[in-house]
Amino acid sequence: MSSRIELSHVGQTFWVRGDEDRQLREFVALDDLDLEIGAGEFVTVVGPSGCGKSTVLDLIAGLATPSAGRLTIDGVPITGPGLDRSVVFQQYTLLPWRTAAGNVEFALEARGGLTKRERATRAREYLDLVGLSEFAGRYPHELSGGMKQRVAIARSLSYEPQVLLMDEPFGALDAQTRERLQEELLGIWRRTGTTVVFITHDIDEAVFLGQRVAVMSARPGRISEVIAVDLDREAAAETDVRATRQFAEHRHHIWSLLRQQHAADTDPTRELAHV
Ligand SMILES: Nc1ncnc2c1ncn2[C@@H]1O[C@H](COP(=O)(O)OP(=O)(O)OP(=O)(O)O)[C@@H](O)[C@H]1O
Ligand SMILES: [Mg+2]
Repeated sequence: MSSRIELSHVGQTFWVRGDEDRQLREFVALDDLDLEIGAGEFVTVVGPSGCGKSTVLDLIAGLATPSAGRLTIDGVPITGPGLDRSVVFQQYTLLPWRTAAGNVEFALEARGGLTKRERATRAREYLDLVGLSEFAGRYPHELSGGMKQRVAIARSLSYEPQVLLMDEPFGALDAQTRERLQEELLGIWRRTGTTVVFITHDIDEAVFLGQRVAVMSARPGRISEVIAVDLDREAAAETDVRATRQFAEHRHHIWSLLRQQHAADTDPTRELAHV
């Protein structure tokens, strides 16, 4: 099961205090942002730090209300969080009073439809998947940062939502765990057909995972380009798709878009234009 997501002319403005005069000012985080994500599609989002990636995810999750524009899931306006969507946040968000397994089971309780025994089995299964079978009984404060994030990932996956929203979920992991989880995530996505919106700083990760990569610009945050990733995964399976020429071309293209961004962002005249 999956859902189609549509963002049209979305704007998000925050009120912030000026550094010097402490006066409240409007800060435009997102402006006129359009993005369509097909049912069952895997879209990755890259962009400079602070460009509004997490803000976009919060809006799709229904955790914030946009200042302008419209967000829909299967044509229905998003008015709040829902059981159809599951989020892996940029920061760890585990219940401190529950063990790793207890945290995964908690999401399954909310979802309903499973017996206690089934929830425990499913929690085990997904903790195995993220390499934490031996840590099921540990509490969050007894886990490392990367482990906590893996529990959060297991929790979101176990739930098998229609829409999976992931905010730099692999950022804190070591390279090997990260690669393994990237492949697992693709496997899960292919099996379940979930719609995935995946935010990352890592261009290689964006190209490896996404069917399309949405590149965001900063100040105000907008989608500057959406790139369809055409990788011949079948042919490359024996080697590594990351080593193919197409992969290198996509990486280069996104890299140059972000470099232009960075140059524009450090231009002081641009800074002034938004005060
Ligand atoms: N609640 C808020 N109040 C005021 N400003 C906010 C709020 N939330 C976000 N912002 C601002 O909006 C902009 C976008 O923030 P956001 O967290 O979406 O960026 P991001 O692209 O996810 O960055 P990063 O890659 O560093 O995680 C930033 O300039 C941030 O300071
Ligand atoms: Mg963020």
